[in-house]
Amino acid sequence: MTTNLPVTTGHQLGRRSWAEPWKIKMVEPLRVTSPDQREHALAEAGYNTFLLRSDDVYIDLLTDSGTSAMSDRQWAGLLLGDESYAGSRNFYQLEEAVRSAYGYQHVVPTHQGRGAEHLISQVAIRPGQYVPGNMYFTTTRAHQELAGGVFEDVIIDEAHDPESEHPFKGNVDIARLERLIAREGAKNIAYVSLAGTVNMAGGQPVSMECVRAVRALCDRHGIRVFLDATRMVENAFFIQEREPGYAGKTIAEILREFCSYTDGAWMSAKKDSLVNIGGWLALNDRDLFEEARNLVVVYEGLHTYGGLAGRDMQAMAIGIAESLQEDHVRARIGQVRYLGDLLARAGVPFVRPVGGHAVFLDARRFYPHLSQDVFPAQTLAAELYLDSGVRSMERGVVSAGRDPATGEHHYPRLELTRLTIPRRVYTQAHMDIVAESVQAVYEQRESAKGLVMTYEPRYLRFFQARFDRL
Ligand code: F0G
Repeated sequence: MTTNLPVTTGHQLGRRSWAEPWKIKMVEPLRVTSPDQREHALAEAGYNTFLLRSDDVYIDLLTDSGTSAMSDRQWAGLLLGDESYAGSRNFYQLEEAVRSAYGYQHVVPTHQGRGAEHLISQVAIRPGQYVPGNMYFTTTRAHQELAGGVFEDVIIDEAHDPESEHPFKGNVDIARLERLIAREGAKNIAYVSLAGTVNMAGGQPVSMECVRAVRALCDRHGIRVFLDATRMVENAFFIQEREPGYAGKTIAEILREFCSYTDGAWMSAKKDSLVNIGGWLALNDRDLFEEARNLVVVYEGLHTYGGLAGRDMQAMAIGIAESLQEDHVRARIGQVRYLGDLLARAGVPFVRPVGGHAVFLDARRFYPHLSQDVFPAQTLAAELYLDSGVRSMERGVVSAGRDPATGEHHYPRLELTRLTIPRRVYTQAHMDIVAESVQAVYEQRESAKGLVMTYEPRYLRFFQARFDRL
């Protein structure tokens, strides 16, 4: 099946504006609610946007995960699903797509990213070992800790500063990583957990120079480097745009080169790869792969479907090819930046520079009168929903959870509310509405009082915690 869409957009016509390299074939109606309905729905949801029903949401910017619109090619691919229990042809198509786009040898499909995080953590971490990473991600760190690992943040300081304009805020602080290796010894480092882009820092990229330096340092100490490739295509776009020597390379070439400095990767295909479900773990080491392939049978399903239907793997294989089209990535990030520009004009504080998948509102500067103990970012997500039915997500103290050793809250320096843009779903006019609503909430910022947590689940509390108004 051909996945090469003919694309002629503003970019290729030599214009400065970005435009979507597609037109809309099928639509889904949106529902607008009244302020009273929203007040009721949010109280029912314990002031947690994860607990809202999507029917009560107008524009859904909760996440870019699994919320993409698939192309006509991907939908057609669903009909080619080979639902054999073992050896499905769609698995081999997926394997080939991952090998050619990302360059790794061996592929284990999983139902989504955290399935792959579970496998890599179980096969590559011994209890007590350190796992240095460029900022934590919620599910990634949870699986590392469940495997007995100790996460250590080795991202550069600029990543924690929402106002820093550093072009690669996702970079590893090489000196910090070196100090950790010296302090604990290379044997006590499970692997370096590198993510591109860095979600919790605002979708910020890692440079090629950085991954090369990480590789060189790890080679000297015999430490492996594994990549969270979830939004690596978006990361490649930033390298093409910002890093000397890469302007003439394609996103596909940059992706391959970046991955070549790592020993394997886990993937939530629900992001870059434009599918509603799916993921994979890819490894170059044959022995480690055999272990992961054995474990997948216990937790996900046979190693040729990993918890997915054959049709899901087919859609993923096609989505991988589509995700690498230059005009697609340019329009995708162009839309995120469009929203950022509107908010900048309104004087709303958010993380600079705008990253790949979302605009992250800076709740600390938005609500300077609220301390982190009353959950400013959670409050902002609640107020935004009440204003317009736009759903966003907290990425601050609630998401950071507790230190497993001390039981204390992690207090991250970044207290953010994420406006996450699904791929190929909303229009520029929807972004205008979102910006208007954020501006309205910003104008009433002094009246916000904060929230108190009334229920806290044990794992990944942000998904299911409940709150009340103060
Ligand atoms: N890694 C990163 C960087 C992610 O953003 C996610 C998911 C995962 C791993 C886990 O993948 O959801 O398929 O199991 N991020 C979603 C988000 C949930 O909203 O940021 P998953």
